[in-house]
Amino acid sequence: MKDFEGRIALISGGAGGIGSAIARHLIAAGARVALADRDLPRAERIAADLGAGSAIAVPLDVTDADSWITAREAVEAQLGPVDVLISNAGVAYTGALDAIDLDAWRWVYEVNIMGALHAVRTFLPGMKARGQEGHVAMMCSITALHPFATQGAYTTSKAALLNFATVLKQELAGTAIGVSAVCPGIVSTDLRANAEDARPNALKGGIRPPAQLSTSQGMAPDHVGRAVVEAIAADAFFVFTHDDYADSIRSDRDLMLSAMQGSADPDYREPAHFLTPLPR
Ligand SMILES: NC(=O)c1ccc[n+]([C@@H]2O[C@H](COP(=O)([O-])OP(=O)(O)OC[C@H]3O[C@@H](n4cnc5c(N)ncnc54)[C@H](O)[C@@H]3O)[C@@H](O)[C@H]2O)c1
Repeated sequence: MKDFEGRIALISGGAGGIGSAIARHLIAAGARVALADRDLPRAERIAADLGAGSAIAVPLDVTDADSWITAREAVEAQLGPVDVLISNAGVAYTGALDAIDLDAWRWVYEVNIMGALHAVRTFLPGMKARGQEGHVAMMCSITALHPFATQGAYTTSKAALLNFATVLKQELAGTAIGVSAVCPGIVSTDLRANAEDARPNALKGGIRPPAQLSTSQGMAPDHVGRAVVEAIAADAFFVFTHDDYADSIRSDRDLMLSAMQGSADPDYREPAHFLTPLPR
């Protein structure tokens, strides 16, 4: 999508650090934006800062399919049909795999994965039916490719989301709807405080993340917002904002490929059509 002039975007988690940065860059490029968030007062404050003609705030709980439908109706009534869908809302929860409360696992997956599924189910049929240029961006994380200890609920949900975005890209091949999978490293936002606030009451005061997992020293969200809008304009699938991970990801992939030596059944070959490269 080269031209954002007059385009309508919805950003879930739009009241957050990265979501509002994406909004700012979309508006600068000519789009109008709906900030959809569970924290409506924060979304309203940011929408007012972004400019009343350019941004609106709508309430949304990404885990609730009905809430998505209500949000879509509100955006369509105020701005029109959505061309750019940014599935960005996300939460984190710290703990070892066997120590994390089952309800915490469910909550993280409900927000990070089911939230993205609801986004696509709510908006994609209309985008396809209109047949116009559109774009869907999924806010994954570098941890989808480079997971680490004590963040398993988060990193496994982001790995699933990256896979989800890859399948979506394949399913939309040949249409005018592009897909991006955004995989940032650390970004300086209030992710952990907002996630603590968003937690169901029974999960309040869970295991605190170690000090080295603070996002306060991360990249400023503005850079990520700009990179996302540039990626949409270029119809780029992978969006990496932190190149520090290249060596370790290359090494992980080399390790994986070195383990793929010879077939367990030398007489069997997979069907050729399964072996096409992933979308570029
Ligand atoms: N900050 C980082 O280091 C980092 C790195 C990689 C990826 N990400 C991802 O970027 C996205 C945005 O995170 P951020 O860092 O801007 O944090 P943030 O907390 O500022 O933004 C997340 C927003 O999602 C909202 N939200 C949470 N649960 C919701 C729900 N059920 N319904 C609707 N809204 C909900 C929050 O209110 C918040 O405004 C997340 O998906 C996060 O996982 C963040």
